[in-house]
Amino acid sequence: MRKFLTTTALSLAMLAGAAQAAENVEVLHWWTSGGEAAALDVLKKDLESKGITWTDMPVAGGGGTEAMTVLRARVTAGNAPTAVQMLGFDILDWAKEGALGNLDEVAGKEGWDKVIPGALQKFSKYDGHWIAAPVNVHSTNWMWINKAALDKAGGKEPANWDELIALLDNFKAQGITPIAHGGQPWQDATIFDAVVLSLGNDFYKKAFIDLDSATLGSDKMKEAFDRMTKLRSYVDDNFSGRDWNLASGMVIEGKAGLQFMGDWAKGEFLKAKKEPGKDFVCMRFPGTQGSVTFNSDQFAMFKVAADKVPAQLAMASAIESPTFQSAFNVVKGSVPARTDVPDTAFDACGKKAIKDLAEANKNDTLMGSMAHGHANPAAVKNAIYDVVTREFNGELTSEAAVKELVTAVEAAK
Ligand code: GAL
Repeated sequence: MRKFLTTTALSLAMLAGAAQAAENVEVLHWWTSGGEAAALDVLKKDLESKGITWTDMPVAGGGGTEAMTVLRARVTAGNAPTAVQMLGFDILDWAKEGALGNLDEVAGKEGWDKVIPGALQKFSKYDGHWIAAPVNVHSTNWMWINKAALDKAGGKEPANWDELIALLDNFKAQGITPIAHGGQPWQDATIFDAVVLSLGNDFYKKAFIDLDSATLGSDKMKEAFDRMTKLRSYVDDNFSGRDWNLASGMVIEGKAGLQFMGDWAKGEFLKAKKEPGKDFVCMRFPGTQGSVTFNSDQFAMFKVAADKVPAQLAMASAIESPTFQSAFNVVKGSVPARTDVPDTAFDACGKKAIKDLAEANKNDTLMGSMAHGHANPAAVKNAIYDVVTREFNGELTSEAAVKELVTAVEAAK
């Protein structure tokens, strides 16, 4: 009897061990800043509460450029992670290579088709099958202002380009750095998203979505580059290479007036215990109110061994749960990836983001972010990055940049 009990206990323990080993997800991501890590923790804890353990594979580098390089190496070595944080066209590129798994079972059971907006489904599905689980919707045409500095400048939010420039001049006179910026191609491109959008919805669409040569080579595009040159004159001497979250820190500490950045910046302000409306102001880049250039973080699910599939599906299901969507996005600074999540738990900036997104979707002013991989595949995106960064750093005049943009995009298409 005793022997029987011991053997049973042993085999039960072994079974539990095997189940545990299977209930593990290895996740590759670039959420390494304070605010991002806090949000990621919401996901880790949620999975842990469901008995799924987490193997972390962080690759630092905002926008995910470095993460995508590491991913390529892992897949080439035949060792794909379970789930990978990914943006827009990158997901479709991996799907085309046949590297992604299939989430139809969970998506069908949970009715994802009805609650996840079409703009996201475009990247979560390939050939009619679910391949990725969207976590959120961010947007890039935001501005984050230090409230005390804005008050000193009269307290009025700039409504257009001229008022923005006047505010930046005022910050300069206050003795602070007007624009907190990190000179990295993806950050330069994030500003360019907003600058191009501020010159018109149609202009943005024709340039970045349609890749229309006449628009890319237009006088208006020269004006966009002129605006970049002007903004460049308001950054500090040490901007080159600075990480985006350190730039957010400058605004948080009052060393800089404002930052142009997607709403993941809000995660940094919240992590530093700052409150919207009291310590900082969120507003759309002047001239872009009513429009949204969005990007959605999704977890692309790779083809993994059969014993790892249950944990993968459980992770996908956990991500799409409405309660998780609210809890995670409140911390991350983003908007839920489902249309049926109440905005109750969100602060004023979050509520505005949710409302802006719904309206832009209705009014056809919701467009994919060029800077964050939702307008074009990586080859085109990188070609644009290159020209934008060279112009921003004074290596190209606006005239030359416009010409280069046309040829670079043409070659990368
Ligand atoms: C974006 C991503 C955000 C945020 C940001 C900076 O591409 O969508 O979630 O992480 O990069 O790292």
